[in-house]
Amino acid sequence: MRSFVLFFMVAGLFLSACTHEDKEVRTRNKFTGDWKFALVDSLDSNGYHHADFDDSNWRRLDLPHDWSIEGTFNENNPSGVGGGALPGGLGWYRKTFSLPECQSNKMFFIEFDGVYMNSEVWINGHYLGKRPNGYISFRYDLTPYLLFGEKENVIVVKVDNSAQPNSRWYSGSGIYRNVWLTSVNPLHLDQWGTFVTTPEVTQDAALVHIEHSIRNDFDGDTTFQLLVDIFSADGQKIGSARAADVRIAAGETKVIDLSTEVSQPELWTLENPAMHTAVSRIETDGTLIDKYETDFGIRFFHFDHEKGFFLNDQPTKILGVCMHHDLGALGAAVNRRAIERQLEIMKEMGANAIRTSHNPPAPELLELCDEMGLIVMNETFDMWAKAKSDYDYSLYWDEWHERDLRDHIRRDRNHPSVMIWSIGNEILEQWDSTGIRITKELASIVRELDKTRPITTGNNGPSPGNSLNKSGALDLVGFNYHHEDWLDFPNTFPGEPFIATETNSSLHSRGHYDMPSDSVRIWPKRWDIPFYDGNPGNSCSAYDNCRAPWGSTHTDTWNLIKNNDYMSGMFIWTGFDYLGEPTPYQWPSRSSYFGMVDLAGFPKDPYFFYKSEWSEDTVLHVFPHWNWEEGQTIDVWAYYNYSDEVELFLNGESLGTKSKPEGRFNVMWRVDYQPGTIRAVSRLEGQVVAEKEIHTAGEPAIISLSVDRQSIDADGNDLAFVSALVTDKDGNLVPDADNLIKFSLDGEATIVATDNGDQTSHASFQATQRKAFNGKCLAVIKAGRKPGSVMLKANTSGMPEAGIRIELK
Ligand code: GAL
Repeated sequence: MRSFVLFFMVAGLFLSACTHEDKEVRTRNKFTGDWKFALVDSLDSNGYHHADFDDSNWRRLDLPHDWSIEGTFNENNPSGVGGGALPGGLGWYRKTFSLPECQSNKMFFIEFDGVYMNSEVWINGHYLGKRPNGYISFRYDLTPYLLFGEKENVIVVKVDNSAQPNSRWYSGSGIYRNVWLTSVNPLHLDQWGTFVTTPEVTQDAALVHIEHSIRNDFDGDTTFQLLVDIFSADGQKIGSARAADVRIAAGETKVIDLSTEVSQPELWTLENPAMHTAVSRIETDGTLIDKYETDFGIRFFHFDHEKGFFLNDQPTKILGVCMHHDLGALGAAVNRRAIERQLEIMKEMGANAIRTSHNPPAPELLELCDEMGLIVMNETFDMWAKAKSDYDYSLYWDEWHERDLRDHIRRDRNHPSVMIWSIGNEILEQWDSTGIRITKELASIVRELDKTRPITTGNNGPSPGNSLNKSGALDLVGFNYHHEDWLDFPNTFPGEPFIATETNSSLHSRGHYDMPSDSVRIWPKRWDIPFYDGNPGNSCSAYDNCRAPWGSTHTDTWNLIKNNDYMSGMFIWTGFDYLGEPTPYQWPSRSSYFGMVDLAGFPKDPYFFYKSEWSEDTVLHVFPHWNWEEGQTIDVWAYYNYSDEVELFLNGESLGTKSKPEGRFNVMWRVDYQPGTIRAVSRLEGQVVAEKEIHTAGEPAIISLSVDRQSIDADGNDLAFVSALVTDKDGNLVPDADNLIKFSLDGEATIVATDNGDQTSHASFQATQRKAFNGKCLAVIKAGRKPGSVMLKANTSGMPEAGIRIELK
């Protein structure tokens, strides 16, 4: 508690010693630089949490940090191959910091976007608390314990990811998301202190409603004015509202609703995701006490049980992908550019939606979806009280689920991209009556905090007898897989809107093809039958001919979704490959086969299935490669759009013109292999739309480098993703090349990771060399802080050195 009068006296006294920023009524700064870290063996705290503990020989690092990704793949790691076969363990972080005396009347909070898992925090030796959930954002009030001026503060975080398995996928370990230090005056907008809704929207006008939660931590009552201004994307003030003379008692949190009308609102759409900002100000006697900005969007949507999903009255099929939170070779450590790149690659495929399977995402993901025009199905839990693995969140369910769910909804409810809340994935309570009670409880918590979005669950028991559905508490019927039941849903769930929350689970290795392509491998045969008869080298075929038994081919899935309006959309399992869950294989595989894109970000062929159906771009994608044994029978497929036929040529000779048969999204030729060139030509009404050639590649001769962005920010964080392709002397990709590429760099940047998308590789992601996998590998470069230019070089024996320049600005 603070004295209001004293606040002004002290503020005045120390004003001269303050920097400009210190004088701000509210600051929020990244608190990620210069931490100390130690991975320890013993559960004993050994005094690490004491302020005066000597951490001088601990490792110095910047957050976000994931220690698991730095570890060694081993099938005996307790995470298991399902968890990515990387180590967990127990880690401690410490950071020393000082604060200027002039801020001693401020309140300070440390905010964690996510710590995996079981974190405990101390400030200057005082215990602040524990948070088991590894994906939730949380904060602590540091104010009562802080020292100012010359004296230093020490914040200590213990992270315990030693009890494993606790996850069905790779979790990462540590303070793997951003950390913030926020300062406010004792009278302030609370954490996640606003909720903006637009209850009425037409082309002409939108009603903007802003709920404010204001907290008075002064030790006396006070009176304030609350003002809010609404700004359009281009910075114009387009609305305002105010509440005058509001009385707030000491220690009270008061909720104040303000509304304003905005005329001719620029709507948030997928094509033009226009963001608005509400700037809220608290003033007392004309003095600014707090200023708080909320980004939001103006849009409206609904789900119809016959016609599907509508965004701003436009029928819109939800073309979604499920994504786990790992960033491939970078592990779980959040990097905004790495997330943005994943989303760009998904958008490029034509996806318009992301499911944050199966946990609250990094805030950056939602900010990017807001900016990029992607719909989000935002999911909270993968399990409730019933466990899926020995040490998972079910252990903490009773004590924590309500708090975690509330915090998740309050954190994310201003994002226009978020259009569905999912309160659970394949929850085991589906099959017993406790599911009814818990669904009702969770749904009522969500509705108390947000009535503007439907609530669903990703169920895998597709019947109205499913307890979660039976509860009557869900707004949107959500089912994973079971595509054979979808056509019945209008009868089994009459009048209820439907979404396929998870689909496919198809299995592919990039660049690997099993013939014949028209026989579908169901691997394993059934979920409970062990799988022994896969391919040597643990590959899966990249035609649409390999899937898990609970899944469906791309062709079957998309036929149903595309041709039935009441199916509002789908979420492919998964957009990207992820660490862990290497179905159908076990060790030595350690990452998934489900992605449309491999772990390194290189598209597999089904990516072009969707691109040809979902995106606006012209597509003619022909595969496989053209390096086979003479006499082999090879199926050549083409995905195409904007055309009515494709003709295929082998060494100049036509193999015939084909059009997609009813219900198929590709054409196919069965070809007796001869080396040379296959050429495909797509045509619309006789006019050539696109042409594609694939040549039999010769010996590996050249490393061909390309970068996703030639110029990146010299901010110590930005990334450049460099692809290295092994080609023959004429530039044809060598489809089985596995040359070891050694990367080196001169200049103010670092090679932070390498990868090649091979699900079975046990090479360290931190190594600066990487074998090509089916001709390709990737190096990830992190910018330093000095502008200039850097040269990345790539070498392998027997080939000339390759180099690529990246600008840092
Ligand atoms: C689903 C589950 C996902 C993933 C997937 C693999 O049943 O929801 O988390 O395990 O199967 O096919």
